[in-house]
Order: sequence, then C-alpha cells, then structure tokens
Amino acid sequence: MNHSGGLLWHARAWRRQGAWRGTCSHIRQWLEQVHPNSKQLVIIGASAGWMMPSRWLQGFERVSTVDIDRWAAPLFRMRHGSALKRSGTQLRCETDDAFGDLQTLLAAHPDAAVLFDNVLGQLRFMHASLDETVSCLDMIKQRLVDREWGSLHDAYSGAVRRSGRGRKKLLMFQSLQAEPAVTTLPGQDGVPIEPGLAPFAIQLEAEGAWLDHLTSQVFPSGTTVHHIAWHYSRHYCHWLQAGWVSSKPRACRP
Ligand SMILES: C[S@@+](CC[C@H](N)C(=O)[O-])C[C@H]1O[C@@H](n2cnc3c(N)ncnc32)[C@H](O)[C@@H]1O
Repeated sequence: MNHSGGLLWHARAWRRQGAWRGTCSHIRQWLEQVHPNSKQLVIIGASAGWMMPSRWLQGFERVSTVDIDRWAAPLFRMRHGSALKRSGTQLRCETDDAFGDLQTLLAAHPDAAVLFDNVLGQLRFMHASLDETVSCLDMIKQRLVDREWGSLHDAYSGAVRRSGRGRKKLLMFQSLQAEPAVTTLPGQDGVPIEPGLAPFAIQLEAEGAWLDHLTSQVFPSGTTVHHIAWHYSRHYCHWLQAGWVSSKPRACRP
C-alpha cells in the first residue's frame, strides 16, 4: 500500500491547491536560494510535482523523476512537461521503488543532484519498526556521501488550534542543523526539538501530541534548514524541513 501517493493524494493536492499556496510559495522561495552545481536532477517522490515550481526545474538540462505511484509520471508530465520543453530540459519519468535499490538508482545518474521531494518523512509508515526506519534513513545518508542532494520532508505533524488565528502570518523560519535535539515541542510530550526552533513551534499553534517523522537528523550538522508550515487539512499541520547539501570535493589522486 502506498501511504503517501496514489489517486487520493492527487485528488487532495488538486483540491487544496489554493489552501497550499502559501506553503508552495515558501518552497519556491527556498528553491530560489538553491543553486545546484549539477545540471541534472533526480527527484525521488516527485509525484505530479504538485508543490514544485516548474521555473526552478527549467534551470536543469535533464530532470528525472522516480515515484512508486503509477499516476505520478503522466501527471508530472502533464503539469511540468510543456514548461520543460520550452526551456529545452529533457524530462524522464520512471515508476519505481526508489529505496529498494537506491545504490543502482544513484549509479544510473552519477552526475545528478538528488532531491527527496517530501518523501523521507513518510518512511516511518513504510517500515515495520522505528528502528528499521532509522536504519533506512542512515543507509540513505551513507549512499549520499560525495553527492549533491537536498530534501524537503515532514519533520513533525499534528493537530493545530481550531481558531487558526496565526496562520495568515506564518513565516518561513531558518536555522542551522544542530547536533541531536534537547527540548520538547511546546505543550507536547516527548517530541524533541532544538531550543532555537521553539518560536516556530509556537507559531504553528500545535495541540495535543505531535508525530515525530524521525527526520530531524537527516541533514549533516551545519546545513541551513528552512522550516515551513504546511496546513495539510484545516486542523492538521505538517512541519516541513528543507535543506540542500553540497557535495564534498572528491579527494585528488596524487
Ligand atoms: C507527499 S508525496 C510527494 C509530493 C510531491 N513532491 C509533490 O510536490 O506533489 C510522496 C510521494 O512519495 C512517493 N513514494 C513513496 N514511497 C516511494 C518509494 N519507495 N519510491 C518512490 N516514491 C515513493 C509516493 O508515491 C508519493 O507520490
């Protein structure tokens, strides 16, 4: 079962385009600050690119998408194909399980930057245990050493106050990825966050226990992380984190 894609996801994303406009605009602002060195991009969990600005993709010579959902490829082409044609960007859309053999997938695109597009936060629903999820995220990080990559993912999610008074003025928040976290989401039990992020957590008007998507240590420490609110439905909010990691220069051989 696909917990984060499929027709229900497409129907929701299409219906809530207006409500998600603010979040998409924050994602666009984040991407506008990302200037990849590579001219090729692989997007994992691309879906139809509902929240992805075509304009950023137009800067690449080749864009490849990989999604396990069979509806993703035709819908991605429908949404972004003509813009990419105008910019002369080659587009290739694959239907596949990107995490089944990530090594082979990466080897097929040796010079491409990789973007995990709102998929890493869902891994905890695809594994039998939290330990397996953490191991999978560790495996992904290891495979990406020496690679230019980025991710937009759920960090936490949960209920928000019904009044939603603060929503209109929600801002994107920026921090540096720190070492393991030491405090908890305000008013919540057991969801650890970095102390510097408490103001953002308060802005979200969180209620009750929030779900930890286990992604808070995905980025190497020192990475600039953008924090973005995503009001998935009227009373349920996702706290997205977005970051871009430049590849380390490869060691020169003597
Ligand atoms: C929240 S949606 C992504 C939204 C998308 N980035 C957008 O802007 O529309 C998560 C996507 O990850 C895909 N996905 C989940 N598991 C996957 C896997 N193992 N390999 C590839 N894609 C996967 C789902 O099918 C779904 O389309």
